[in-house]
Amino acid sequence: MRLAEFILINMEPILQAWEDFARNLQPSYRLMDVVELRDHAKEILEEIAAELANPAGERKLDPQGNTPAEIHADTRALSGFTVDQLLAEFRALRASVLNLWSRREKTATWFEVEDMTRFNEAIDRALSESVARYTEAQRQSQNIFLGIIGHDLRSPLSSINLGATYLMRSEQADSKLIQLGSRMFASSLRMQEMLDNLLDFVRSRSGFGIPLQPDDVDLAVISEHIAEEFRASNPGAVIRSEVVGDVRGRWDGARIGQVYQNLLGNAIQHGANTPVSVVTSAYDGEVVLSVHNDGPPIPPAMQKDIFDPMRRGLSDPVHSSSHKNLGLGLYIVREIVAAHQGSIEVSSAEETGTTFTVRLPKLA
Ligand SMILES: Nc1ncnc2c1ncn2[C@@H]1O[C@H](COP(=O)(O)OP(=O)(O)O)[C@@H](O)[C@H]1O
Ligand SMILES: [Mg+2]
Repeated sequence: MRLAEFILINMEPILQAWEDFARNLQPSYRLMDVVELRDHAKEILEEIAAELANPAGERKLDPQGNTPAEIHADTRALSGFTVDQLLAEFRALRASVLNLWSRREKTATWFEVEDMTRFNEAIDRALSESVARYTEAQRQSQNIFLGIIGHDLRSPLSSINLGATYLMRSEQADSKLIQLGSRMFASSLRMQEMLDNLLDFVRSRSGFGIPLQPDDVDLAVISEHIAEEFRASNPGAVIRSEVVGDVRGRWDGARIGQVYQNLLGNAIQHGANTPVSVVTSAYDGEVVLSVHNDGPPIPPAMQKDIFDPMRRGLSDPVHSSSHKNLGLGLYIVREIVAAHQGSIEVSSAEETGTTFTVRLPKLA
């Protein structure tokens, strides 16, 4: 008997072995309906049997175009399975088929290797479909979750902000209260910035990119404005801002302001207590902004991943512990620059300090 036929005839014992295994994987309070548990496994196996019998045949999809392995992954993601558990389930499915198959009464062996190989390939295919679907579902739910946090925290934050403003300006308040109010106000602005970053992060990670509203802007005005803001909020810092040539062009001014803000904020926050400089220069067809600070260089291993918070986590042991920010700043800067068809790079060494350089083509 060929393996395809064997699977169909022995569906019941195969499913039973698999079900026993799958039940052990999930906590008892989450035990799913046995029918549902079996249904997908049965469909996956039927599909594999059909594929073994007729490799050139058409695949059976549900009305939405999903394969049985994909439907299975959706259900698993919803019921809180981890990806390891999903993998273990497929291993169990494979094992329960091959076990029974090797214990059958053998009538011929010439096709044995061929059938097993093809079965393994078919299981692997189903497995990778399941994992791809599962990962996508996880990513989406993460994005939705982050998006909800970013969005829903705004309104309570704005009433805190309002209260802080009131305290700051109140005529009855003594100097202590005024001080308290202005500290609360500064904190609420920082929190607002974090939430904005979080939303931008989620948006760009969901594949929507950063939306731009290009307009005629003068980077001389924007860079000076941001530098002035930083001087006001960091009285000790020396910030030199310089403009060379005509740096007007068509960009999203608010977004480019965010680029200056993030780079300058980093230079002040992560640099030594020495002057920080911002230079904006016009060249043929493009404008180059560079932000420089001294201080300990960024380790070469980290420079490679510096624009990618997910990767950087691995090479940046300091970041997680002693940190006030979300670490999304440079990621968003790079996304904004990319949305303008520009580029960004970093150079950082002991002798020369750290410089971030952004090239922005003048958009038509
Ligand atoms: N100008 C700089 N000088 C030294 N290190 C920097 C500089 N800019 C960024 N870094 C390093 O890169 C990391 C990531 O920066 P960023 O994405 O802006 O996140 P955050 O500032 O929130 O930590 C920082 O934590 C810091 O370690
Ligand atoms: Mg930063």
